[in-house]
Amino acid sequence: MPDAAAHPFFARTEAVLSMLRRTGQHKSLQTIEGPMGPTVRLAGLGECLCFCSNNYLGLANHPEVVEAGIKGLREFGAGTASVRFICGTFSPHLALEARLASFLGAEAAYTFVSCWNANEALFPTLCEPGDLIISDELNHASIIDGVRLATVIKKGLNKAVFKHNDHADLRATLERARGDLAKDAVIWVVTDGVFSMEGDLPDLPGLRAICDEFGALLVVDDSHGTGVLGATGRGTHEHFAMPGSAIDFFTGTLGKALGGAAGGFIAGPAGAVDLIVQRGRPTLFSNALPVTVALSAAKAIEVLDREPQRVQTLRDNTAYARQSLKTAGFDVVDSPTAICPIIVGDTARAISMSRRLLELGVFVIGFGYPVVPEGQARLRVQISAAHTREHIDALVDAMKKL
Ligand SMILES: Cc1ncc(COP(=O)(O)O)c(C=O)c1O
Repeated sequence: MPDAAAHPFFARTEAVLSMLRRTGQHKSLQTIEGPMGPTVRLAGLGECLCFCSNNYLGLANHPEVVEAGIKGLREFGAGTASVRFICGTFSPHLALEARLASFLGAEAAYTFVSCWNANEALFPTLCEPGDLIISDELNHASIIDGVRLATVIKKGLNKAVFKHNDHADLRATLERARGDLAKDAVIWVVTDGVFSMEGDLPDLPGLRAICDEFGALLVVDDSHGTGVLGATGRGTHEHFAMPGSAIDFFTGTLGKALGGAAGGFIAGPAGAVDLIVQRGRPTLFSNALPVTVALSAAKAIEVLDREPQRVQTLRDNTAYARQSLKTAGFDVVDSPTAICPIIVGDTARAISMSRRLLELGVFVIGFGYPVVPEGQARLRVQISAAHTREHIDALVDAMKKL
């Protein structure tokens, strides 16, 4: 271990940390001492209303979802102790993947320990030199990094970014590229299904039409849409009355509506999913999803299919929260998603507002740079089907006191 006083690394690290503290941007992590729910018990603060989790359907602590994990722990033990292709594929993985594929209307699915991993598997594995990936500028960081990684691994792979939800810009990029690409080059258009910091949606039917016109494949990361949008919670495509087959590739997470533990997946054509199994680096070099999580996530989908009214409750709660926040004078973007960002501008301001809300017993996180661009810091309110009207009224009362 180098001498902390002398080595330049430590001085550099301390300089960044003290800048973050000086400018009010330093985050302190809250410790939760009980299960995730509409309220959570925070260390030193007691029971607080939770409006910042991705527990959209209230399934993170659902008795059947918890029990499925416990049963899995007893039947399959604590760990896989292997990557999937060596000796890490357990029957619950296959059952969950079949369930995910049929839930989304895709041919096949494959799971990872996170959606971050799924995005880092998809682009570097399936894209080839000469291809072009075009990504919405507000896509999630895991897409951005997955695409960056792909261009490093596959030299000669082209990438471009189109302005957020701007189809004229996308079209112009495609027109420009058309002449330069080889005949067998594949064009990949990539979008979030729900933009995680804005809570807005892409115009998926419009993107599909453009992809068809240019022979491009459409990749949708629906991490915040799965379980939230559409009559039965299939996601953003269902919201737009599109079948799952209209999306070439889905990526998604098990860490939000579908039980909320962790894990991600790719769903799409069977051959492409097999290529991910054969060649994906996170597939070949990283451990399998814990079996307990696979069982809990499969149970979460079962509960969602049995109780689609949870999606309607979430929708009603979200509409009520948006309306109540607006009536209280806050500027909330209109959208059917469960993410309600309130832009406050400065990162330090967002952090201090979220600190004040905590004093009032309401847990809402302020997001600033580098999670969102400088000057666009926000409080991100997230609604759950588990919230009651009283919870939402209490949130709005606390917001009014800011
Ligand atoms: C759109 C999107 N993709 C991917 C992820 C990463 O998911 P995971 O936590 O499973 O890695 C997130 C999580 O915030 C997300 O919002």
